[in-house]
Amino acid sequence: MILVTGATGTIGRLTVAGLLARGVPVRAMTRDPRRIAPADGLEVVAGDFDDPGSLRRAATGAERILLVTAPPEPTERHDVAMVDAAVRAGAGAVVKLSAIGTGERYAGGVIGEWHLRGEEALRGSGLSWTILRPSVFASNTLWWAPAIRAGAPVPDPVDGARQGVVDPRDVAAVAVAALTGTGHDAAVYTLTGPAPVSVGEQALILGEVLGRHVAVTTAPPPAAAWAAGIAWSRDGHNAVVTDDVSRVLGRAPASFRTWAADHRTAF
Ligand SMILES: NC(=O)c1ccc[n+]([C@@H]2O[C@H](COP(=O)([O-])OP(=O)(O)OC[C@H]3O[C@@H](n4cnc5c(N)ncnc54)[C@H](OP(=O)(O)O)[C@@H]3O)[C@@H](O)[C@H]2O)c1
Repeated sequence: MILVTGATGTIGRLTVAGLLARGVPVRAMTRDPRRIAPADGLEVVAGDFDDPGSLRRAATGAERILLVTAPPEPTERHDVAMVDAAVRAGAGAVVKLSAIGTGERYAGGVIGEWHLRGEEALRGSGLSWTILRPSVFASNTLWWAPAIRAGAPVPDPVDGARQGVVDPRDVAAVAVAALTGTGHDAAVYTLTGPAPVSVGEQALILGEVLGRHVAVTTAPPPAAAWAAGIAWSRDGHNAVVTDDVSRVLGRAPASFRTWAADHRTAF
């Protein structure tokens, strides 16, 4: 059985579906089990990264775990708590969702410092581990839907810089591969789409798909916790594409245009 944390979120939800489609028994963790519909092969468990007892119950009997943390303020506390629960429960391996650029020093800060601490806790745990460091999710543009519907411009936080925008379905597919296959121990995968795109290019593509004009405006300055990462991207350092998705999945990653076409009704 595989434990998927963050099971109601973007990557967790897709990973649960991918595992069930392969016939792999899944335990999905959420703070509110009513949020997940029953399905064959699926067990839903209540778990909160701030409640160590709930994590131990969730991890007991899990062979492998997908660790997805999204704390309201940057902190490694949730990663450390789940790694600790995994060790105590005797889990075999943990696949951690991290982020591109983690640990790089830039603009007087360390990018993704909380993810770095979480990665370090996992690497030092004695568990088998795999780290996924995706680029910006294509699905972040769903945040634009209200503005697009209102005919308002969408915000560009990185001033026209291109980024290796990745389809979250590809991130989840790599998670499924790492959770079910072999050869992923101690691997760090940097997951990107096939080509770097700017927010302006994403807006143009979405506009073509939706048949309307999508204008772009400058975003307000980011909160201090994200400033180094935004500066790193704005200065072009996230215009990176890798072949890690292709190497793991044996096929090319999806483009932003493909993601947009498949999600046009959400806008
Ligand atoms: N968005 C991007 O462009 C991007 C790019 C690279 C990396 N990432 C990384 O991806 C991760 C987020 O993944 P996502 O977008 O799939 O998540 P998401 O859609 O933001 O969902 C967050 C998930 O975390 C769960 N959660 C939040 N607080 C919790 C708590 N205290 N205890 C237990 N579960 C809790 C939520 O579950 P319930 O509310 O149901 O409990 C939900 O399933 C972050 O680590 C982020 O740094 C994101």
